[in-house]
Amino acid sequence: MKLENIISKSIKDNNNPIGFDVFMNLALYHHKFGYYRSNKTIFGHKGDFITSPEVSDLFGFSIARQCSQVLNGGDILEFGAGSGILAVQILFELGKLECLPKKYYIIELSAQLRNIQKDTIKKILPEILDCVEWLNEFPKDFKGVIIANEVLDAFPVKRISFSKGHFYELGVDLIDGKFNWKRLHEPFLSSKMPASKNFQEGYTTEINLQSSAWINSLYESMNEGTVFLIDYGMTSVEFFHPQRHQGTLKCFYNHKSSNDPFSYIGKQDITASVNFSDVAESAIESGFEISGFTTQSMFLISLGIESFLKNEENDKKRAKIAQEIKQLVLPGAMGEVFKVMALSKKQSVKLDGFRELDLTSRL
Ligand SMILES: C[S@@+](CC[C@H](N)C(=O)[O-])C[C@H]1O[C@@H](n2cnc3c(N)ncnc32)[C@H](O)[C@@H]1O
Repeated sequence: MKLENIISKSIKDNNNPIGFDVFMNLALYHHKFGYYRSNKTIFGHKGDFITSPEVSDLFGFSIARQCSQVLNGGDILEFGAGSGILAVQILFELGKLECLPKKYYIIELSAQLRNIQKDTIKKILPEILDCVEWLNEFPKDFKGVIIANEVLDAFPVKRISFSKGHFYELGVDLIDGKFNWKRLHEPFLSSKMPASKNFQEGYTTEINLQSSAWINSLYESMNEGTVFLIDYGMTSVEFFHPQRHQGTLKCFYNHKSSNDPFSYIGKQDITASVNFSDVAESAIESGFEISGFTTQSMFLISLGIESFLKNEENDKKRAKIAQEIKQLVLPGAMGEVFKVMALSKKQSVKLDGFRELDLTSRL
């Protein structure tokens, strides 16, 4: 059965449109046909999009420096490890800094990606394979550093639209045999809704209802440590800005972005930007402290990413490194769209990555 048929069946079985979160969950994570479960190349130039660790090893090397400040003999846990390259970068640099963790755990939903991650590690840094362990669930009594790069943006979201003083959920229905948006009848209510009622008619946005439970599970599974969430996103004020009236939903296929989740189903990525104020609120409710929020650019600069350029003597390699740093830190590239947030439990260290700029008060 094709993924389209499976989704159609769930709409028919529901006797009603399904929520966009249900659609997105099937499109990305259906156990057989979901985008992240398929064998297609997802990451990098031959895939659909490029993430920061795919752009440059310096991304992971810089994160390793930040880890070395707070590891304190603990372990690392990475969520959604993509191709596995970030794990390689972090462990390589931590080895150089003589600060290797005993374990580098990975929680990855996709069996295909687990295999790809194993292959990447075996190919580039086989000596660290024994240190890496894939987990099926949150560990207990975890101590150390948790990292999630571009994971929250891949969580299934609700889509809502404003009309005559209320937000309504936009479900997914089958109309003339095709998937399409269908506004539900009852106003959509959630504590995550924007407070203002001054939205223009038709203003559309997304609400991530799954992030709070996930953040709470992080808190519960941790004895002490720091969580680094790196993703494209913004504060609540920017997220619900009147100019962002079509929301933040984006799809990626073959390095082309669109806002049509109903094409290339199971073959394209679907994402929504992260509302970091909402993440901070959930984190504080769980018991975390927000120990930093800044742009990717200032995070990497604070960690001294330019020193990798200064230390390189080979001209050709320097030119390549300079190009990669530009891609990671320039505002028009990945520098400002991406943010880094740190959450800490029983740890009160002034984190190096937020030394130059900490925007926590804007959340
Ligand atoms: C956009 S990719 C990012 C991959 C990688 N972190 C990188 O930066 O290249 C999103 C990843 O998050 C994973 N993911 C989504 N929800 C997850 C969850 N609840 N737990 C663990 N991984 C998850 C997906 O399987 C996928 O590997």
